[in-house]
Amino acid sequence: APATLALLLVAYAIGSVSGSLVLGRRRGVDIRQQGSGNAGGTNALRTQGWRFALGVVAIDIGKGALAAWLALRYAPVGTALSVTAHGYLAGFAAVIGHIWPIWHGFRGGKGAATVVGALLVLWPFAVPWLLLVWGATVVLSGYVGLATVLAAACLPLLAWLGDAGLPRWCFAIAAALLIAFTHRGNLARLRAGTESRFARVRLLHR
Ligand code: G3P
Repeated sequence: APATLALLLVAYAIGSVSGSLVLGRRRGVDIRQQGSGNAGGTNALRTQGWRFALGVVAIDIGKGALAAWLALRYAPVGTALSVTAHGYLAGFAAVIGHIWPIWHGFRGGKGAATVVGALLVLWPFAVPWLLLVWGATVVLSGYVGLATVLAAACLPLLAWLGDAGLPRWCFAIAAALLIAFTHRGNLARLRAGTESRFARVRLLHR
């Protein structure tokens, strides 16, 4: 158990390194004070442009992948939890770090890129399906937050279709719920008709 706890703390600390806030510091901006106020790739694109946003997404995906990989590599054997369970727990801990980062006053992003990073290591099969749902929703609606919530909601469905084990099932359900929770503001704005939209990408209602 001490080894498991140590791995989860390391994963949380890694997840707490926010791409947008670290890169923003170099140009003297905190994107939590701009646009949607979210410390994530979408708001980085909205407020800083695509080069910056690409760096942000690379860091936020990379840290999810790193945390999951470290856990698989260094999971203690002979404990109640399997190696796979360690991977999913660490991936989730990194997502928690991204959302409530210890290095940035516990105000981070919404967790989507970090979930994808963890899944690239733990469940790569799921990623193209998530991107498909996400990309289609972005292109059709222009709402990135909506796309992220819908894609995350597909995780339990994919677990069911893919006959997942318990750790994967738990991650799928927990991630879908957590992403819906972190996007509660986006969902409220959608209902109020005030959610910001990437008008240039959307195909409908042009
Ligand atoms: O994952 C973040 C994205 O889905 C929404 O970002 O800045 O529009 O709240 P934002």
